[in-house]
Amino acid sequence: MPLDIIIGAQWGDEGKGRITDRLAERAAVTARYSGGDNAGHTVTVGSEIFKLHLLPSGLIHPGVVGVLGNGMVINPQRFIEEMDKLAARGVNVSSERVKISYAAHLITPAHIALDKASEAALGRGKIGTTGRGIGPAYTDKVARRGLRAESLADARVAADSVKAHIARANASLQGVYGQPPLDAEAVAAEFAAYAERIAPHIADTSMYLHQVLKAGMTVLAEGAQGGLLDIDHGTYPYVTSSSPVSGGAFTGLGVGPQFAGRIIGVTKAFQTRVGEGPFPTETFGAEAECLRGTGQNPWDEFGTTTGRPRRCGWLDLVLLRYSARINGLTELAITKLDVLSGLGRVRLCVGYRKEGKEFNELPLGPSHLEGFEAIYEDAPGWDEDVRGARALSDLPEAARHYLSRIEALAGLKISMVSVGPEREQMVIV
Ligand code: GDP
Ligand code: IMO
Ligand code: MG
Repeated sequence: MPLDIIIGAQWGDEGKGRITDRLAERAAVTARYSGGDNAGHTVTVGSEIFKLHLLPSGLIHPGVVGVLGNGMVINPQRFIEEMDKLAARGVNVSSERVKISYAAHLITPAHIALDKASEAALGRGKIGTTGRGIGPAYTDKVARRGLRAESLADARVAADSVKAHIARANASLQGVYGQPPLDAEAVAAEFAAYAERIAPHIADTSMYLHQVLKAGMTVLAEGAQGGLLDIDHGTYPYVTSSSPVSGGAFTGLGVGPQFAGRIIGVTKAFQTRVGEGPFPTETFGAEAECLRGTGQNPWDEFGTTTGRPRRCGWLDLVLLRYSARINGLTELAITKLDVLSGLGRVRLCVGYRKEGKEFNELPLGPSHLEGFEAIYEDAPGWDEDVRGARALSDLPEAARHYLSRIEALAGLKISMVSVGPEREQMVIV
């Protein structure tokens, strides 16, 4: 009766959606526990590409239920749009299959306006957010004045609570940022309409997940973002406003840790980041372009949510060991090994140097990464196309050596190696 947790071990976009899709074959439920539509999870099934932002990736499998947990912040407009898009592609999104926790928080147009205004005011010091209102929605939650999904159970309650919220938010928009106010009546009418659509999906998802787990079925907790974007454990302040780490799955779903099974850290065979913040192994020029791609392939490194080019660099084992520790990872899933084919040399960051001293661990966590220079272990690359590999023995010797160095340096076993975006392009170890 396990709760298996899928965690981004880096700064997001590691391929969590793709790994979730593969593991959902044997799950009853897939549940998102943190973040909102700042996430963009891509699932490729044959020639079909699904991009999910709020709905759990497991829904692509007909037998799997999707839960949006209490730890999430949900933009109801974007939720309805995503539901409609999936329904148009033949996915059943009935209230039996898509359940929203009554305690999840709602994102309103005021949160989006505040997110954008705050970024503009920060200027060069901006975080580089996705502009989806995530930070302001969590701010309202923690300040105990947020709007919860349960308010959508009744259209009149939804409209009244939205009016009060917009009046409060307008004071900040106008007073702090000099922005025009929002029309509270118009937003309230919008939310009353959303209430009609969303009310049937609102449930006590903690109770539901307990029943599923007690019946011996598997629940997959689908992480969003990544450990290094965690509000407490990431590269603060260049982080998101939630807890994407594995601990967040328990608070974000209302399920106790006694149910935990596998805790799978998903990491690319290299490393990327969107938005601002430190990145010791970042690379530029031709090497970065090889890792990023031109944008012609659907998997090239341009954001699923915002389309921004992702910053690219080499896999950082100091940060991966850190991620393993804060998440209690039981294993690693490596993605995008195929992208390294054709690079003359592959590199792993095995430590840092600063002011003449060498470090294997971060002295004060990843929010103090400035000034640390990566120390690399280099190895010969491989030219073979690895996308057809289905067993480790199908991989070139140099690729196997690379993977075994990652295992040794991270102190974790690799249980899955993804060699392409499609469901079947995977080596299960
Ligand atoms: P997530 O946010 O962690 O779910 O990751 P994204 O979906 O934002 O980004 C991962 C991208 O890489 C998507 O376009 C995936 O289809 C793609 N992808 C995942 N695994 C592989 C792989 O092994 N090889 C290649 N070429 N692409 C992959
Ligand atoms: P998935 O689930 C990559 C980043 C933003 C920014 C910071 C704060 O697809 O891996 P926010 O809008 O959350 O306040 O932005 O976090 N960020 C992500 N980067 N993948 C994501 O999600 C991200 N979600 C947020 O780029 O640096
Ligand atoms: Mg993504």
